[in-house]
Amino acid sequence: MADGLRDFAHGLPKAELHVHLEGTLEPELMFELAERNEIELPYRTVEAARKAYDFKDLRSFLDLYYTGCTVLVTEQDFYDLTWAYVTKAAMENIRHVEPFFDPQTHTDRGVPFGVAIAGILRALEDADEMFGVSFRLIMCFLRDQSIESAKHTLRTAHLYRSRIAGVGLDSAEAGFPPSLFEDIFRAAGEQGYHRVAHAGEEGPPRYISDALDLLHVERIDHGVRCLEDPALVKRLVAERVPLTVCPLSNLRLRVVETAADHPLRRLMEAGLVVTVNSDDPAYFGGYLTDNYIAMAEALGLGREDLVRLAKASFQASFLPEKRKAELIAEIDAYAEAHASS
Ligand code: ADE
Ligand code: ZN
Repeated sequence: MADGLRDFAHGLPKAELHVHLEGTLEPELMFELAERNEIELPYRTVEAARKAYDFKDLRSFLDLYYTGCTVLVTEQDFYDLTWAYVTKAAMENIRHVEPFFDPQTHTDRGVPFGVAIAGILRALEDADEMFGVSFRLIMCFLRDQSIESAKHTLRTAHLYRSRIAGVGLDSAEAGFPPSLFEDIFRAAGEQGYHRVAHAGEEGPPRYISDALDLLHVERIDHGVRCLEDPALVKRLVAERVPLTVCPLSNLRLRVVETAADHPLRRLMEAGLVVTVNSDDPAYFGGYLTDNYIAMAEALGLGREDLVRLAKASFQASFLPEKRKAELIAEIDAYAEAHASS
């Protein structure tokens, strides 16, 4: 890989639409917070934690992800977590983020919703002011928890309605179909939230069509398994439903065997609106630019492909059309300025 392409991807203005804030918790910060809050971790050292990040599937990852979350207790912890991510994002010229957080992961441990969201929002607002990284926050329901718990979360969120842009659906996918969440997504839609859902990561293509038909989502998170159903691909293309694809995540959770097997190029060639994202970068070995570069290296993507992916990231965002157009114009200016370098 020529350094030129890495530098190009690094400086390219882009948005990140699929990143779990809890999945940006690097082991160094995890240990610092564990000490601060006197919480015991199942690892003795940062190196031991990293070594344990050898996943065989989504479930085996989620077990460690939820263990990591136990160190997050105070508003300052959530601030530090979010701040560490947004400063990294700013450094790789991410201009807009739509991060997820999982309220139930914290409220289930006795950490109030208000504590988590206050720290997260304060860091996102500081980053907007200091670095010009805009944001829209999305709260996810855990699909392997009860519907009652999700309903309670939606009720609590109402206090923060103006600060939360959308709702999502994450955690263990297989066996927890979108249909379980039809009522709650309808209620969220009536309250004006944007709607997205993880679907077609480990779950079948049917979960993707159900997320569209029953949950009325505007984007599909992951969605890579749509390729198993040509009629579904046709529909996603026709309806211009964006997919937030996470290549290194797919590799580390063994959704694909090797980077060269990743379907990103096939998704693009099919005419889908595809974006690239990092999912849980502290666990999967790379942030956003690393994901662009991993795919460029494995699939032979060029600058024009990276430009298309970055443009799609703004296009698929929840920003107003005028702001999308400004950011897309910035990409054109950037590509032009770097045309001969
Ligand atoms: N929560 C955090 N990361 C996730 C992923 N990749 N899939 C489902 N739930 C998640
Ligand atoms: Zn995810």
